Amino acid sequence: MSATMTTMMSTAPKTSPPSLTPPAPLPVRKIPGGYGWPLLGPISDRLDYFWFQGPETFFRKRIEKHGSTVFRTNVPPTFPFFAGVNPNVVAVLDCKSFAHLFDMEIVEKKDVLIGDFMPSTSYTGDVRVCAYLDTVEAQHSKIKNFAMDILKRSSSIWVSTLVSSLDTMWSTIESEISTSGSASYLIPLQQFLFGFLTRCIVGADPSSSPEIAKSGYTMLNKWLALQLLPTVKIGVLQPLEEIFLHSFAYPFALVKGDYNKLVDFVEKEGKEVIQRGETEFKLSKQETIHNLLFILGFNAFGGFSVYFPTLLSALGDDKTGLQDKLREEVRETIGTSPLSFSSVKEMELVQSFVYETLRLNPPVPLQFARARKDFTLSSHDSAYEIKKDELLCGYQPLVMRDPKVFDDPETLVSDRFTKEKGGELLNYLYWSNGPQTGSPTESNKQCAAKDIVTLTASLFLADIFRRYDHITCSSGKFTALDVRK
Ligand code: HEM
Repeated sequence: MSATMTTMMSTAPKTSPPSLTPPAPLPVRKIPGGYGWPLLGPISDRLDYFWFQGPETFFRKRIEKHGSTVFRTNVPPTFPFFAGVNPNVVAVLDCKSFAHLFDMEIVEKKDVLIGDFMPSTSYTGDVRVCAYLDTVEAQHSKIKNFAMDILKRSSSIWVSTLVSSLDTMWSTIESEISTSGSASYLIPLQQFLFGFLTRCIVGADPSSSPEIAKSGYTMLNKWLALQLLPTVKIGVLQPLEEIFLHSFAYPFALVKGDYNKLVDFVEKEGKEVIQRGETEFKLSKQETIHNLLFILGFNAFGGFSVYFPTLLSALGDDKTGLQDKLREEVRETIGTSPLSFSSVKEMELVQSFVYETLRLNPPVPLQFARARKDFTLSSHDSAYEIKKDELLCGYQPLVMRDPKVFDDPETLVSDRFTKEKGGELLNYLYWSNGPQTGSPTESNKQCAAKDIVTLTASLFLADIFRRYDHITCSSGKFTALDVRK
């Protein structure tokens, strides 16, 4: 077990008093649960997961049934047309057992981004992109370093590009509210994200291609959906969802035309970044282009497209006067200065609220890793023997509500992560596939953008309260934006 993890896990969560005696060894327990009859077990679990229970209840009910946060179960996709996919997993659903997923000495992450099922590499130009590579694969280090270099270099334009892209988004939304009384924010948000991220990550201005400027974000949505559909509950009328969305992998041919247009755009407009990938990181041109597009479309656009709506709805749903407190902190901190990374780093409540929304709604809910060797896995109260090649599956929305770590875990407590209240709790915030106190490196699989994601979300909030006194939104719509008096 790596030093980081041992230190992290021997540190008791904030709520427990520090202990002076070494902890007693945990009792070794047989992993409860099972996989059921061949075909029948997986299909029954799949129907529970997608239809009768939904993912959260699926995992919750099994914790109750087995009296354990570690157990065996099946996860989709399964039978009939996923013959080569093994649905058997060991679920790890508390903060302590989940943290084994970050320890690259005992687990590997080859081709398990979304479980044992991997979408065809034709979705990524026949290249196995970074997110599917294990840390022992030489290309992983090169591409991870390339991704982190892109972020470092673009940091000089990140804030100004964000703010100018938000200017456009907010004026579109304001004029829609003034004509129709309300405005949906999902499409404007995605258009803003596409433009902003393309400029910062690819170094390209979408408006140089009218078709990409108009439809780039829709092209990415379709490409993402076809890769992820077999593993995600949508909420369409059953059994239609089971029959049409979860029974087979969709062929890349359905989005080939759009993907090729995006590739052409990146190749033509992102020359400088591509050249760096080739010369400084020794990647082939094809590896560079397809990884760049994956980082833009899947990691960045996909991640923020899931996260920002949950951030806005947390703001809109609040009944505790949170917007007043955030507004006060933002305006006191920046005064009349422009927004910057350093100014939002001083906004403790803004940052804590960002962390808390990531805790309650981690945008990437499932994480997987395969045992590199036999090892003993610990939960808070027991130890379990894991065999080489077993697949571990963590469902973050439950892990991040671990009552042994977080007080009042189901409630949004906006100042939970302020230094005064619980700075140490950041050791247990895992949205980035690693603790918020960790650092992404070529030797781990933590999100390359761990810090810039939370800073961008803080800037997004700070920008709202610089412009508006109060915003009113629910169910994906704004009904009022009270312009600053
Ligand atoms: C809200 C936005 C984002 C979220 C929620 C997010 C989340 C994640 C998660 C959970 C992983 C690990 C997946 C796994 O192996 O199980 C990951 C990996 C990664 N993310 Fe992010 N991410 C976001 C934005 C970004 C951005 C803006 C970039 C741009 C560079 C990025 C680049 C990467 C890369 C390159 C990896 C692969 C790391 C590796 O293979 O070692 N992500 N991200």
